[in-house]
Amino acid sequence: MWRNTPTAFGLTTRLLHWLMAGLIVALLVLGTVLVRIQPDLSTLWLYGLHKTLGLCALVLAFARLVWHRISPPPAPTGPPNQWANRAARAAHVALYLLMLAIPLSGWIASSATGLDVVIFGQITLPAIAPTSEALENAGFAAHSVLTKLLMALLLTHIAGATLRGLKHDGTLRRITKGS
Ligand code: HEM
Repeated sequence: MWRNTPTAFGLTTRLLHWLMAGLIVALLVLGTVLVRIQPDLSTLWLYGLHKTLGLCALVLAFARLVWHRISPPPAPTGPPNQWANRAARAAHVALYLLMLAIPLSGWIASSATGLDVVIFGQITLPAIAPTSEALENAGFAAHSVLTKLLMALLLTHIAGATLRGLKHDGTLRRITKGS
């Protein structure tokens, strides 16, 4: 039930997939709001919420990679070496890289501001970069560009999944209901 099998996604992978999907959409919306508002005492909690959810997304991305070493995901549906499967594989690798690089760039840039990075309203994370305005600007610039890339890849991922859903090849059912 919890583990993946050679043909089906187990409950752990499915829960991780949908939890991360929800978190990432929330983070993309919240981040877009953050860059449009004035940082002051009344909006500080929104920054804290974004950092908290962002760190959760980073931990879950690692957890998912570790889980897939313990319980490998099933092979794609359809004939092997199909171009669509190769494209999906490349998109998944890029999604994982972005799910690691985006929160890390946010953490680096936030550390470089010299302010404490506080999550859950009370836990101060270690600074992973020295205080530096240049690093802060470069980190947030990278965070911004990478999130735009993620948005584009997510749209591709959703379009691919929808096409497979229309073809009834079992891919959508596997990641929702399991098998
Ligand atoms: C998967 C995780 C994350 C996603 C998807 C995400 C997404 C975003 C997005 C879309 C923006 C707006 C970028 C722009 O349009 O310029 C943003 C801004 C921001 N993010 Fe993240 N973020 C994540 C993780 C983090 C983490 C872990 C931190 C810090 C510990 C962080 C700190 C910030 C800050 C402080 C801003 C505002 C930057 C500014 O005011 O210029 N983010 N984020």
